[in-house]
Amino acid sequence: MRIAFAFTGAGHLLRESVQLAEKLAGEHEVTIFLSGAAEEVLKMYGLYERVERLTGGKYRELATDSNQKFSYPITGRLSLGKYDLTIVSPATANTVSKIVYGIADTLVTNAVAQSGKGAVPVYMVPVDIHPGPVDTVLPSKIELSKCQDCDDCVAALSCEQGAIIPHSEIDLTKCIGCGLCRNSCPYDAISEGKIITIYMRDIDIENTRKLESIDNIQIFETPDEILDKI
Ligand SMILES: Cc1cc2nc3c(=O)[nH]c(=O)nc-3n(C[C@H](O)[C@H](O)[C@H](O)COP(=O)(O)O)c2cc1C
Repeated sequence: MRIAFAFTGAGHLLRESVQLAEKLAGEHEVTIFLSGAAEEVLKMYGLYERVERLTGGKYRELATDSNQKFSYPITGRLSLGKYDLTIVSPATANTVSKIVYGIADTLVTNAVAQSGKGAVPVYMVPVDIHPGPVDTVLPSKIELSKCQDCDDCVAALSCEQGAIIPHSEIDLTKCIGCGLCRNSCPYDAISEGKIITIYMRDIDIENTRKLESIDNIQIFETPDEILDKI
């Protein structure tokens, strides 16, 4: 099978989505599509290199919002029906709402639009699917209750990206999730993978429901369900 696998910028189900892409790339031709936010968020969770490692060669490219400029030429392959399947996992509330209203101004929303034109089925894992609370996972974070406000913050000194603002926060736009800060702080003041509860918004749930009414799109609750289906 030839698969277009798109990531958007959600932390929720991101690791599980990377695992799905890895399994599929072992058996199929997989082209990776990243929204701009996906590129950043994959780095924050230390997962970018795992995705990059899956790429190389024709139909195994790494297409990004930046390397595809404004017209996303690679999505032409989808309108020509050159892929058997498009997967979007995880799909942010932002991407879902754009797709529902026919907007195609990012690499991923454009890939979904062109899949429709090329009669390519689209499997999506929207993160906002059920109303109510959802547990989700955070990237690295300074726990101020543990931080001792050291004169020389070893976590900040260890960070090659200059992402740590001592006794304050991590600049996630610089963080690559390498874990050096976590390992170097003697007070265990940097957490990674902390679980928090967030609440789904009605408008996002409603947009997910609207997604299901689009002909070639099928919704899944988890990346694993897609694996079972394939
Ligand atoms: C650490 C982090 C985690 C995020 N997790 C989510 C998420 O689970 N769901 C979501 O809808 N947006 C999430 N966002 C916000 C999106 O990245 C943001 O809305 C972005 O504009 C989405 O763009 P995209 O849909 O083109 O990927 C997260 C942002 C950050 C920094």
